[in-house]
Amino acid sequence: MSQKITVIGLGFVGLTTALGLAEKGHAVIGYDANLERGSQIAAGHVPLHEPGLETALAKHLGAQFSVAVTLREAVRDTETIFLCVGTPCSEDGAADLSILQEAIHQIVDVIADDDYRLLVIKSTVPPGSTAKTLQAFLVESAGARAPQFGLATNPEFLREGYAWGDFMYPDRIVIGVNGDRDWVRLAAIYAGFDAPVHRLTPSEAEFVKYLSNTLLATLISFSNEMSMVALRIGDIDIPRTFNILHQDKRWFGYPAGMASYVYPGCGFGGYCLPKDTQALACLASTLGMKPDILNAVIETNHRIKMTAIERIAAVSVPQHVIGILGLSFKPDSDDVRDSPAKDIIQGLLSRGYERILAHDPLAIANFAAAYSFPITYRNDLDVLIQVADVLVITTAWCDYRDLRILAGGKSIVDLRYCLA
Ligand SMILES: NC(=O)c1ccc[n+]([C@@H]2O[C@H](COP(=O)([O-])OP(=O)(O)OC[C@H]3O[C@@H](n4cnc5c(N)ncnc54)[C@H](O)[C@@H]3O)[C@@H](O)[C@H]2O)c1
Repeated sequence: MSQKITVIGLGFVGLTTALGLAEKGHAVIGYDANLERGSQIAAGHVPLHEPGLETALAKHLGAQFSVAVTLREAVRDTETIFLCVGTPCSEDGAADLSILQEAIHQIVDVIADDDYRLLVIKSTVPPGSTAKTLQAFLVESAGARAPQFGLATNPEFLREGYAWGDFMYPDRIVIGVNGDRDWVRLAAIYAGFDAPVHRLTPSEAEFVKYLSNTLLATLISFSNEMSMVALRIGDIDIPRTFNILHQDKRWFGYPAGMASYVYPGCGFGGYCLPKDTQALACLASTLGMKPDILNAVIETNHRIKMTAIERIAAVSVPQHVIGILGLSFKPDSDDVRDSPAKDIIQGLLSRGYERILAHDPLAIANFAAAYSFPITYRNDLDVLIQVADVLVITTAWCDYRDLRILAGGKSIVDLRYCLA
């Protein structure tokens, strides 16, 4: 159903959002504090380079889309207000939310009636900003009128240069809300889009956006660090090697996609990743470089195992029987070389845990032969579950998928985040 929507800030994200929602049949009114920008748009000119927007503006201007000259006019008759203003970096590196706060303050100030308004943060803000900072700011600005305003988050994933296509054909729509009323309204606004619409908390929605952007940044910096290593080694055609890297079937999801590598767990292991990462970091250092990303990868792989031990210790005491589920470094393998389970068991033993039971569908014999730990191996999963006080998943075997049901309320530490 068509809704009345305001979009505040008509830059890349705001103008695209406004026209995209107009294209879906909503009645959209836009406003930009830069009045020159607003009047250019009102005259049918798109003040930035973004293919597709010119046509969309020509189609909707004066019909589904209009530009307000004042903020009061922009918010007077609408129910939902999307905020698409900038969130630059402050001097200390933190996100500067002041432009956003100023916009919220102005909106609250100019609304004279007492109808409910939903403010939707489309600007990118660090996880926790809406719940911790912006909600408090809104309440402070609105005073006794605070219940009249809702606050939700709806991060945007469009790419400049492809903004129109990305907005109109999104891969996912992420909505962070505090309650059903706001959810129903935002879900209805996006009902015309052919994409999964996810209901999350505001902090989760913000986190998804930062997961996305920081991963992309990490991939770029990783590639650049590798290009510097290659330059130093010499005799390497850098674009050629990267183009061959891109032929890896896993990028295209076959037989199992790259996504499985972008998932948290308790560390990488096995014969290849630990030693090869270490060896390239070592070679780069020998050549006089400081491969920060490779070193950080190795350090993080150590720290995640220490964190795993802390997580187990937080729900147990050394007298407890700890059931370790999974000894191979990954499911469907009996390879136990550099398996995270090894470091985790070692860490527990050094903290005085003496009653450790371990299970694995394939790798018990290899593990027992490789590491002479004073622990008990159990082939029978049911018996282990019965005897253990705390169950720890160290390898994401399918066999453990129903552990919550099988464990009957016992403490579970799912280090692979594999349980539903
Ligand atoms: N550019 C991208 O590719 C992209 C993609 C996803 C998310 N984002 C995020 O979206 C937000 C906006 O990004 P952008 O690139 O569209 O920024 P932008 O600078 O192009 O546009 C912001 C607009 O907001 C206007 N504005 C500022 N204060 C205002 C106020 N109080 N009232 C009305 N208008 C006001 C500015 O005049 C400007 O035109 C940022 O948080 C950004 O991180 C950007």
